[in-house]
Amino acid sequence: MTRIVVVGSINMDLVTVAPRFPAPGETLLGDRFLSVHGGKGGNQAVAAARLGADVHMVGAVGDDAFAQSLRDGLKQENVDVSHVTIIEHCSSGTASITVAGGENEIVVMPGANAQLLPSHVIKAQHLIASADAVLVQMEIPLQTVEATLRTAHAHHVPVILNPAPAQQLPVEWLKLARYITPNQHELATLLGADPTEDFHRLMRDAPCPVVLTRGAEGAWFREEGEPQHQSGFAVEAVDSTGAGDTFNAAFAVFLHEGLPVAVRKACAAAALSVTRLGARGGMPHPAEVNALLARQH
Ligand code: RIB
Ligand code: NA
Repeated sequence: MTRIVVVGSINMDLVTVAPRFPAPGETLLGDRFLSVHGGKGGNQAVAAARLGADVHMVGAVGDDAFAQSLRDGLKQENVDVSHVTIIEHCSSGTASITVAGGENEIVVMPGANAQLLPSHVIKAQHLIASADAVLVQMEIPLQTVEATLRTAHAHHVPVILNPAPAQQLPVEWLKLARYITPNQHELATLLGADPTEDFHRLMRDAPCPVVLTRGAEGAWFREEGEPQHQSGFAVEAVDSTGAGDTFNAAFAVFLHEGLPVAVRKACAAAALSVTRLGARGGMPHPAEVNALLARQH
């Protein structure tokens, strides 16, 4: 069984489905509200577990009304939560999300995620050492991201850095990643480049291998040489929240099958995830991924 360690955020997603996005200063009536479990870290952990991996989460929740539900939500999905720390006198992470026309707008309040420290990563280092892959994103303090990159690298465990939300990082850190998995905007920000810069060039110039996600257009990937393209899978988009997380999880879980296969399966899994509302709604089991792969080819 593939063992995955995820170091990252856990949020309660407060989702409003609206007919369109409001303009600044405008009030709109929404169509539907739901509160569902999210956070890039938690989402990636759940997506990997649904795909059959043995998943361990390193994260933090607060001591508010959301905390227990967030932890239980991970447990119910067979994610090990023994390294999910409870931070006292702190709120859990939240994300205020508006969904309109299959797209989203998100404001994240880190809460307890801001208290996930390098020491928590060090405490979980025996798990990291025994993992087949480690996943980390950027909704936690950057020194914790660095600790994760360094710990995994020191144990020769491939670490996948999903540089979201977009921030610039030192080149030295990026060299520790086995892959980075940005979208176009995140790649430019990460490298401190102009956002209009040709992404093929950025991929070639990056200090580590890049898997670049392009939403419905699939993904580009490059280990060395020229970037390669994987087409997207056509689906009816209901909610794109969590598509990137599903992509990253599938990529990590299937990485042992080789880069092109992992990217192809990641695109299929991400496509399936957008067909249902909520970040974790639509995250597929392996049979659904295989069915979509068989249908398109
Ligand atoms: O990637 C999607 C996630 O981003 C949401 O679940 C939300 O919590 C934000 O962190
Ligand atoms: Na979804």
